[in-house]
Amino acid sequence: MIKVNDNFRKLSASYLFSEVARKIASFKSDNGNCNVIRMDIGDVTIPMLHSVVAAMHEAVDELALSTSFRGYGPEQGYPFLRNLIAEHDYAERGLAIDASDIFISDGAKSDLANLGDIYSRDCIVAVMNPSYPVYVDDSVIDGRAGEFVGGRWNRLMYLDCNSYNDFVPDLPKQKADIIFLCFPNNPTGEGITKTALSKWVEYARENGSVIIYDSAYEAFVREHDIVRSVYEIDGADEVAIEVRSFSKTAGFTGVRCGYTVVPHKLKGRFADGSVVDLNSLWNRRQTTMFNGASYISQKGAAAIYTPAGKKDVKAATDYYIRNARIIKESLQKIGFCAYGGVNSPYVWASPGDGRNSWEIFESLLQKYHFSSTPGSGFGQNGEGFVRLTGFNSLENTQNAMQMMINA
Ligand code: MLT
Repeated sequence: MIKVNDNFRKLSASYLFSEVARKIASFKSDNGNCNVIRMDIGDVTIPMLHSVVAAMHEAVDELALSTSFRGYGPEQGYPFLRNLIAEHDYAERGLAIDASDIFISDGAKSDLANLGDIYSRDCIVAVMNPSYPVYVDDSVIDGRAGEFVGGRWNRLMYLDCNSYNDFVPDLPKQKADIIFLCFPNNPTGEGITKTALSKWVEYARENGSVIIYDSAYEAFVREHDIVRSVYEIDGADEVAIEVRSFSKTAGFTGVRCGYTVVPHKLKGRFADGSVVDLNSLWNRRQTTMFNGASYISQKGAAAIYTPAGKKDVKAATDYYIRNARIIKESLQKIGFCAYGGVNSPYVWASPGDGRNSWEIFESLLQKYHFSSTPGSGFGQNGEGFVRLTGFNSLENTQNAMQMMINA
């Protein structure tokens, strides 16, 4: 029999969101298939934006004609989309990112995991605690996490985040090679200021580290002092990769499209000391292992940058933020401490009564029939918290919260 990757044995039996979905399904089947209002995984509920749908229809029609049919596209993404991103997400905000720095993908999750292919196995990885589980699970699979001892992986560097540091980690005392930062943060929903992020960029420059900056939720930023792109910080293009997604911005959770910026200025070195451009490594990785996001998805994504598309995105993200605000205020009314929900669709909340995250999850599910994600699934510092999302409909959100407040 084939020898398999032993690191899989070290992982918990199932991925966090699969485990939550399993518990919800079993609760429903034990309770006459009752309705559960989903506030766990960050899956959107507003149907595809009109502007995006129209563009995707046109793309399908093009594929139906021999004169405009397309097969394989460029692995890096079509120039029309890379140029729009460079112009609207960066140049318009005064940021110099070249279209050739941008790689279109099938979403942030795969890129966040696949980026591990371009750095050395012995790199020390730092993750925020709590954090999106993909950073940790992928480090385990790739053999960079070490052993799980006392609730922590002994080769990972944990950047503790809690209410004492406003969920923005302090700089580590030792050297980290790869640093995953996510702002607005999943799961805490908190943003980062330019001053705070500048310290991280400075740290990375001094230590020869690379920041993998997950800004999947940047479209939810509403406050002016909160950063949307790591490249707002001077010198970040020499030390940071930025990963973005159209999933939560424009309803692409099912369609799949996102992008990753690997600036040409970002360098690494091989074991013999020779210097290499990370952009060229990522390009080599993608051309070998990825055939590009579909033409239809990319045409749909391009529509987000039209005036109508921008209006649609603003309306959709406003809608989800409003839901998050309702959730946050409702939880505060019943005595929870609640964070996030201002520049983010996520609310991070704790009753602070000694119950663990799975107990809080169970009690919200059983008493009020809505789901959450247990905070402990995002790391040790998430214990005693749950994460709720504003991605359900306004009506469902209001109903769930009313049921909880009136109980
Ligand atoms: C989440 O709920 O954290 C996200 O939806 C998961 C994801 O984007 O993969």
